[in-house]
Amino acid sequence: MRPVDVVDRLLKDRNRTPGTEGRAYAPVNIALCKYWGKRDRALRLPVTSSLSVSLPELGADTTVRPAETADRFILNGHPVPATDPSATRLSRFLDLFRGDPHPHFEVCSVSTVPLAAGLASSASGFAALVLALDAYFAWNLDRRALSILARLGSGSACRSVYDGFVEWHAGERADGMDSFAEPLRRAWPGLCVGWLRISDAPKAVSSREAMERTTSTSPLYRAWPGRVANDLHTLRTAIREGDFETFGRTAESNALAMHATMLDSWPPILYWHPRTVEVLHDIWRARAEGLPCYFTMDAGPNVKLLFERASRPDLCARFPGINVIEPFCIRS
Ligand code: PMV
Repeated sequence: MRPVDVVDRLLKDRNRTPGTEGRAYAPVNIALCKYWGKRDRALRLPVTSSLSVSLPELGADTTVRPAETADRFILNGHPVPATDPSATRLSRFLDLFRGDPHPHFEVCSVSTVPLAAGLASSASGFAALVLALDAYFAWNLDRRALSILARLGSGSACRSVYDGFVEWHAGERADGMDSFAEPLRRAWPGLCVGWLRISDAPKAVSSREAMERTTSTSPLYRAWPGRVANDLHTLRTAIREGDFETFGRTAESNALAMHATMLDSWPPILYWHPRTVEVLHDIWRARAEGLPCYFTMDAGPNVKLLFERASRPDLCARFPGINVIEPFCIRS
């Protein structure tokens, strides 16, 4: 099955005539148990399930309108050249949805996260785009269908159609219709995610390439699916029981295990900068001194700290420049 067949099946006889405008917002999400490795590259089907938390204040606000002769992308107010790889990727994704009349799209997106720095900007970007397309064509698809469509753009984007804790079920079917995300419906009011910006520079190896290299060359990767099954179970229980120590330890260890499979690949992949290593040692030192904090990292050098509100003043003093988000704090 091809992505276009999945789209045809989900849209059935829904409207392909565009309206005048569709706009939507989607948050970034940080995986606590990582998605690492695909079982189907074209459909972006994962080897394992994964679990994330969305960060409502960081994300993409995207507007879709008809364009005259070709797709036009405007990112944070700046036109993206048609030759830019991100424009090519977006146009290829939009090929799945072209309307009649007005087959071309103008996509304006304002992102509050730096791009390509391992901060899940593509997840919020593709999720916001799918939600904006849903509004543009007035499809009124349910969240499950929207999650599947977002997955076709970027795997982790399927989790960004929800707030809070979100689990992406790997599914078993070849057509991927059972591979979508769902919210856990559990809140953790005092949870904090602190984002330490180490570098915004685009990464040398894309997460897509890193995943492929890992699954095809790392002997350690064979242990990854079993590891994820255990970590998912432990994390779900820790979230249910509000057990922060188990929650933090499991998330940190899962991220390190993912990076271990990258180091075990050939040629090896190491996203960490010297400053990343310094920060990890600082976190371990803070913890040894009694400050309950853990970290997670994605395919990039940046570090995200996990801690509870009671530790916030101490953490902010210890890590100046930290950007703290409380995912479950509703802002008025
Ligand atoms: O969705 P992608 O292709 O950007 O992959 C994301 C992979 C990680 O961020 C490293 C892990 C995850 O689950 O988000």
